[in-house]
Amino acid sequence: MTGVEVHRPKLRRLRVGESPVREPGLQAAFAAPVGQGRLRATDDLGAAVKAADVIMVTVGTPSDPRGDVQLDAVDRVTGDLADCLRHLQRPPVVMIRSTVPPGTVGKRVAPQLEEAASRVCVCHHPEFFREGSGLDDFVRPPSSSPACAPLAVRARRR
Ligand SMILES: NC(=O)c1ccc[n+]([C@@H]2O[C@H](COP(=O)([O-])OP(=O)(O)OC[C@H]3O[C@@H](n4cnc5c(N)ncnc54)[C@H](O)[C@@H]3O)[C@@H](O)[C@H]2O)c1
Repeated sequence: MTGVEVHRPKLRRLRVGESPVREPGLQAAFAAPVGQGRLRATDDLGAAVKAADVIMVTVGTPSDPRGDVQLDAVDRVTGDLADCLRHLQRPPVVMIRSTVPPGTVGKRVAPQLEEAASRVCVCHHPEFFREGSGLDDFVRPPSSSPACAPLAVRARRR
């Protein structure tokens, strides 16, 4: 698994197995796969996309002073992904994990990616983990309901 991070100081910490997030058990769960070479961090989006079966987008979506969600980082990463996907024969599944308003994936993200790569599967995974207990919520979720296009479902089944 490869994480792509553009913030240099954070990338340096991730590369040596330091979790930027504090919660019980997370540091150990993060450091072990980094030490074993199963989890790595990079700023090379193109190489990471080429090697990926599934891409999970987790860029920040802060609120502005009026309470509206700011989608600048989602727009930027969508554009960057579109450039990377353009020449791939078998594009990966792209899953949006960032918190976005309803309709953002279908009307704003997917059309741009599908224009770049007609066979790309774009889906939304809006499951929310509570801050401070994300690991436990991941292992024992109360429920899990991903939603994706039929093509994406077929791709995942294969
Ligand atoms: N689904 C959940 O359970 C859950 C839980 C917490 C947060 N979230 C959502 O996840 C998103 C991220 O939250 P966060 O608290 O980690 O935000 P954050 O701002 O702390 O982290 C986002 C990271 O993305 C990096 N980034 C931004 N643009 C990038 C790009 N183009 N390429 C690579 N990296 C890039 C930033 O440098 C930053 O380190 C938000 O939308 C938040 O609402 C979801």
